[in-house]
Amino acid sequence: MLQKTIFVVLALALSIIPAQADIKKGSKAYLKQCKKCHGNGTKGASMKSQAEWNEAFADNAKVFKQWHAGTKGEKYVSSKKFSKFAPHLKDFLHEYGNDSGNVPSCG
Ligand code: HEC
Repeated sequence: MLQKTIFVVLALALSIIPAQADIKKGSKAYLKQCKKCHGNGTKGASMKSQAEWNEAFADNAKVFKQWHAGTKGEKYVSSKKFSKFAPHLKDFLHEYGNDSGNVPSCG
């Protein structure tokens, strides 16, 4: 009985972890997806404050998509690649927002 409980708890924990947003994943995604248009991660994240990043990614990244509407970034923000990585990107950008006092080590 106890073993079964432990197994269930473990299985739950393992199924939850990969779904969580991840700053490292966000930073990798930034370098792959945003850098070509916005420069390195330090520069990119410091475009906005932490509150602005929160707002930008709220409501299915509505504000973030508005920033890119009608620009060469429009196609990217409506792509699956963007929606797949958006929670990670948000975590990374928020962590290093221009009022966070944090500077990413990966550049
Ligand atoms: C294909 C090019 C392209 C890609 C990819 C792209 N952007 Fe943009 N982005 C733009 C353009 C063009 C604008 C509008 C003009 C500007 O402000 O530079 C813009 C605007 C923005 C703004 C608003 C700037 C302001 O002054 O208010 C932010 C913040 C931003 N992008 C962040 C990102 C992030 C983070 C990513 C990756 C998740 C990304 N962009 C991906 C081209 C791109």
